[in-house]
Amino acid sequence: MILFGNLLLADDSGKCHIEVGTVRVADGMIDEVNLGDRPKHFDHGGPTSLIAPGFIDAHCHLPQFDLIGAHGMPLLRWLSDVTFPSEMKWADVDYARSMTRRVIDQLLSVGTTGIATYATVHHESARAAIEEVSASGLRGVVGQVLMDREAPPALCLPAQQLLDEAAALQREFPSGNRVAAAITPRFAISCSEPLLSGAGAIAAETGATIQTHLAETVQECERVSELFGGTPYVDVYRQCGLLTERSLLGHGIHLHPADRDGLRRSESTVVHCPTANTFLRSGAMSRDAMIQSGVKLAVGSDVGAGYERSMVRVARAMIEAASSLGPRFPSTAEAWYAITAGNADSLGWTDAGRIAVGASADLLVINPTVSWLGGAADPLSMLMFAWDDRWLKTTLLAR
Ligand code: GUN
Ligand code: FE
Repeated sequence: MILFGNLLLADDSGKCHIEVGTVRVADGMIDEVNLGDRPKHFDHGGPTSLIAPGFIDAHCHLPQFDLIGAHGMPLLRWLSDVTFPSEMKWADVDYARSMTRRVIDQLLSVGTTGIATYATVHHESARAAIEEVSASGLRGVVGQVLMDREAPPALCLPAQQLLDEAAALQREFPSGNRVAAAITPRFAISCSEPLLSGAGAIAAETGATIQTHLAETVQECERVSELFGGTPYVDVYRQCGLLTERSLLGHGIHLHPADRDGLRRSESTVVHCPTANTFLRSGAMSRDAMIQSGVKLAVGSDVGAGYERSMVRVARAMIEAASSLGPRFPSTAEAWYAITAGNADSLGWTDAGRIAVGASADLLVINPTVSWLGGAADPLSMLMFAWDDRWLKTTLLAR
């Protein structure tokens, strides 16, 4: 199969650029890229199409796609009043399965082909979610959420049971597959020390991706300090073996320089969730401070605290958030990179998120209805700021 158009290509300096050319796909893989090629016959695309890698969302919550827009509450009240009651519905496996299917449709409709995502504390429902993500052809890491305290009794399970269940999912869906189970302690408030360390131990044994939340609000940080005898939040995770180069830490807003230093040394990734940070009024994460400290960054929608499913619009929010903080902000060329190759690398998917020979062919054919090539000063900027999901013409999945 041949795709022709303006290829969104990733370069080594963390930016994307476009070049006209063709992409040949065979058996779910890109096996040829010809720059400058303008063929007469092709299967998808055209002279004004953008051919892009599918977008990757490095942090979202499957059960929360039905609660987007619960506005006006700070994080901990939003969790107790809206999120936890909603996640209880996942006690019903059939509900969880059908909701996951609905969410996958929404993800595909905005061009997302890869996700790092949370299910709920319910084991069978987490398994059903992993099965549905696998069946859909999306690429993903999906975690059963671990919680043994500070949540309604219906969502708290004994630490040992949760660890046994998480280990079982690791055996069934190990890392290295297109869809794998992730070790997913929700955050330090809702996990006892034995649960956090047990989670770290499973991740060390299996090499699994770890996902959790870190320092999203001041109130959260204060509660963590109370619960862990004043140990800094980042140190709680480090001591429990949760800071690895495969760790995805959502938010990371309220951190001191020493915390960022620790994150850099562990090579863990902070997942910036700009729309959620605005929505819950949690604060603004300084990308600049992270970059200056050498902390690795990814970007996520964090649906349902985040209200945007579309990673293009999340990328735009990332630029806007940085612009309101200070003089340095990512360019749109960097933002396109962040939601494709950048997030792929953060998830350890070196053969995803890019148009390159040997990469998996998760590809979008985009037909913008704006005249983006005819004299726009910066075509990639124009596409990001004028973005319309209706431009998505075809989504190819590699499976
Ligand atoms: N911290 C702990 N759980 C959550 C969650 O579900 N969403 C967000 N945004 N922060 C959290
Ligand atoms: Fe989250």
